[in-house]
Amino acid sequence: MFSRRTPAPGAENRLTQALAAHPRPVLDLTATNPTAAGLPLDVGPALALLADPRGARYDPDPRGLLSAREAVAGHYAGRGVVADPARLLLTASSSEAYGWLFKLLAEPGDAVLVPAPSYPLLDALAALEGVELVRYRLPAEDRWTVHASLVEEAADRAEAAGRRVAAAVLVNPNNPTGTSIAAEELATLSALAARRGFALVSDEVFLDYRFEDRPGDVRVAAAEPGEALVFSLGGLSKSAALPQLKLGWVLANGPAGPLAEALERLAWIADSYLSVGTPVQLALPGLLSFGEGAGRVLRARLLGNHATLAGALAPLAGVTVFPLAAGWSGVVRLPAVEREEELVLRLLGEEDLVVHPGYFFDFPSEAYLVVSLLPGEETFREGAARLARAIDRPA
Ligand SMILES: Cc1ncc(COP(=O)(O)O)c(C=O)c1O
Repeated sequence: MFSRRTPAPGAENRLTQALAAHPRPVLDLTATNPTAAGLPLDVGPALALLADPRGARYDPDPRGLLSAREAVAGHYAGRGVVADPARLLLTASSSEAYGWLFKLLAEPGDAVLVPAPSYPLLDALAALEGVELVRYRLPAEDRWTVHASLVEEAADRAEAAGRRVAAAVLVNPNNPTGTSIAAEELATLSALAARRGFALVSDEVFLDYRFEDRPGDVRVAAAEPGEALVFSLGGLSKSAALPQLKLGWVLANGPAGPLAEALERLAWIADSYLSVGTPVQLALPGLLSFGEGAGRVLRARLLGNHATLAGALAPLAGVTVFPLAAGWSGVVRLPAVEREEELVLRLLGEEDLVVHPGYFFDFPSEAYLVVSLLPGEETFREGAARLARAIDRPA
């Protein structure tokens, strides 16, 4: 009766089950909701912008109101990127943008190449569009940056299995490893994509949370020269720490003919949903300037908590806290003496502490843990101390 695009109910993993049955309150180091992180931010003036009386009138533009697209172009201009509003399209979120791009580019059953390790929601977004994810490896030994040769190898694998490759996804900077693609790898990848007839989708929601760019790192893929169609994604959920307002965007680039057609077709998809509210579009210039301040507050929080994590785990032999290259997560590698799943269940049972195991993010080997760097400083300090204590205690 139901399509296979949604999972059967009750298929929760062991950690979710253990959490549901846990008898005591927990300290949650997986929380990534910026509106529940006790940030010293007054959101009131930003929310007041939603009461603009022009919001009483409904006169939608499928691509998003021009004034709102101009505001996004201004946001990019502040980051040194030229983004013609004609190449911008608004969505309700970057998750929705992925869905629209998969509809635009892929037939059901086509392959979409995605990085591993990376952001776990991609599985659900692909399942909902009936596309197959084929993973390309980000090498740990090169701090998980994208190698075009490994994307090509995944494209070969997909085609050998009889699948057409519709797109390759970059998460740039990657979640949770924080690393970005180098300009020369992007140029190689773009040539490969143009030759093999697929597009590039670059998820750049963490654009404003880059702490450690290497020389030549790409910030906005759709602003780089290249031969392929490329779509850069961003949104208010990270750029302004306002996920509840539901506004994201796509910046498209590529050869003139395919680009114009992609924009036409995307506008057709957008017209079928018209999912972005008018008040949030009218408020966008003010919300993006609110976001500049929110970004500063958040970056301070992330850097502070990362230093706390590194300090707490420093005395433990064989434990590595990776430098915070970008994003909202800290990545820890441990000696693989205890399985990740057993370790996270033990952290819950012994310390009432919730962290993500690396396998949630498709790390290719054990043992990694991923923690959110968003919680309040005191909560985070206590969480890091519990983590250190449990790692130090034999299983
Ligand atoms: C890499 C990445 N992309 C997209 C999203 C979702 O963003 P949005 O709220 O715009 O759908 C997240 C959320 O954590 C993310 O980590």
